[in-house]
Amino acid sequence: MSAQADDGHCPAYGERLRLDELLEIAQVHENPERALFFGAHQACEIWFAVVLRHLETARRDLTEGRGAEACAHLDRLPRIMEAVAQHFDALHALTPEEFDVVRATLGTSSGFQSVQFREIEFLCGARDRRMLNIAGLTDRDRARLLARLDEPSLDDAFAAYRDRAGEDVKRVQDAMVAFDAAMRSSRGRHAALAQALLGGVAGTAGSSGAAYLWRSMERTLFPQLTQGVHSDDC
Ligand code: HEM
Repeated sequence: MSAQADDGHCPAYGERLRLDELLEIAQVHENPERALFFGAHQACEIWFAVVLRHLETARRDLTEGRGAEACAHLDRLPRIMEAVAQHFDALHALTPEEFDVVRATLGTSSGFQSVQFREIEFLCGARDRRMLNIAGLTDRDRARLLARLDEPSLDDAFAAYRDRAGEDVKRVQDAMVAFDAAMRSSRGRHAALAQALLGGVAGTAGSSGAAYLWRSMERTLFPQLTQGVHSDDC
């Protein structure tokens, strides 16, 4: 049962999670409304990092012909996206008036500039190059996105795997479709949140706000895959 390191020191919970450092930099020290707003965003960014690690691993598994292993990683993603969506739901606890006070301090900053979110899209295969020109991205953000464009997408990796008649093709396809659906559902919960808090007002990044987010539900993460799967949906 002992998890002691060789030097006999067993890091306690807070130490293992580096909670002192994490909570020092987390934006949860201001008033309760700002703590809720920024805490939810930072929590989502941690989840986005977790999603990226799963997608990278699944892509490597597919490239190396391991469909079942890829599924094991992809199958976790709908639940993770549900956790992200629950952060959107939690923000309904803010009234439009409380949100307005927070919003007045945001300037043009917006989740629209989330580089990890764009990395998820680019890594999957949804590669809208206009996203490279989003105002507010740093040179480092842009370099990360350009690097993603140089890599094969998960969509590409799946197409190659399917063409090699890999085993588990159907299972992998179902897992990718389930992740795409979970992303779409979280986009819907995000749109409903923006609708409730912003009404018809534009977003801080200058988009049409809730209308932009509702429209984003039409997007797919996997253009090649869904062409085959949903060809009769349009
Ligand atoms: C009060 C809560 C929120 C409101 C009212 C809101 C509103 C919006 C709006 C209107 C946009 C469109 C771009 C713009 O013009 O700004 C947007 C984009 C975005 N937001 Fe939020 N948001 C909220 C919470 C969150 C949270 C907690 C996250 C988690 C990181 C997040 C992540 C994103 C992302 C990734 C985009 C880009 C979506 C895309 O381009 O498909 N948002 N948000």
